[in-house]
Amino acid sequence: MSTATLATPVATAAEEPAATSPPVPENCKTVGRVTADGALLIARGVNVFYGEKQAITEVSIDIARNQVLAMIGPSGCGKSTFLRCLNRMNDTIEGARVTGSIVLEGQDIYDKHQDVVQLRARVGMVFQKPNPFPKSIYENVAYGPRIHGLAADRVELDEIVHTSLQRAGLWDEVKDRLTSPGTSLSGGQQQRLCIARTIAVNPEVILMDEPCSALDPIATARIEDLIDELRESYAIAIVTHSMQQAARVSQRTAYFHLGDLIEVGETDRIFTNPRHKLTEDYITGRFG
Ligand SMILES: Nc1ncnc2c1ncn2[C@@H]1O[C@H](COP(=O)(O)OP(=O)(O)OP(=O)(O)O)[C@@H](O)[C@H]1O
Ligand SMILES: [Mg+2]
Repeated sequence: MSTATLATPVATAAEEPAATSPPVPENCKTVGRVTADGALLIARGVNVFYGEKQAITEVSIDIARNQVLAMIGPSGCGKSTFLRCLNRMNDTIEGARVTGSIVLEGQDIYDKHQDVVQLRARVGMVFQKPNPFPKSIYENVAYGPRIHGLAADRVELDEIVHTSLQRAGLWDEVKDRLTSPGTSLSGGQQQRLCIARTIAVNPEVILMDEPCSALDPIATARIEDLIDELRESYAIAIVTHSMQQAARVSQRTAYFHLGDLIEVGETDRIFTNPRHKLTEDYITGRFG
């Protein structure tokens, strides 16, 4: 089991409903503005250790509504590790330890009273490899709403399944085969099914870890279009190895290097006028 020792958040839901961010620690070395308007999920001074080894050092950043944050950086720099902190997926990793503070709408997500299942519904995750449950297409989407009691009856559940598949851009392709296994779909369809499954439980934040890396360019383009649409309703953070993808889908970009968050800024600015030498080296292909 992992242990989590997180500082009490500076703001609580009652007194400060996510309008202002907790202060950025003075030792934050990140270049650029780590805060964002409409911040929903706020990380401050986050460190992650695997046993003795530190994988993330003092990362502070906001993830904001109606915005896609792209996380880029060379392999092994801690992108997935940081993303997993944001909905406590690191809890499932033996020896992983998180310190610092991560606050979702004023609530410390590492609080001992936090219901982790509930948290992962509010902060959903889409993985690199599509991972539908070994169930029908319908059941893949219906499962979450059912366990969270989001539908009063079958009619409501059908409606949630329909709406979620529609929003994920999959409904027309699957409406006549809802009872077929989720795994019978193509890779791109399976990834959209996983997105439908995530949306079905009314998340506020969607985390995506290289969601297109197993997909062909056409399936990738569909997911990218979808991310752009989903931005209207959710806060999104996406890890990608493709700088073209980061440029296409995100409004803000965060550059990680060896566990440090080196630079954050508007995506256009990061790619045209990076301020830190390490960011420049990476985006111009001199590193990674
Ligand atoms: N379960 C684990 N146990 C121990 N160390 C780990 C574990 N997962 C990741 N690490 C280490 O933490 C560091 C960051 O890994 P992480 O997977 O977060 O990087 P990444 O930026 O997502 O890389 P990639 O682009 O290759 O996916 C690496 O040094 C890695 O070896
Ligand atoms: Mg990774």
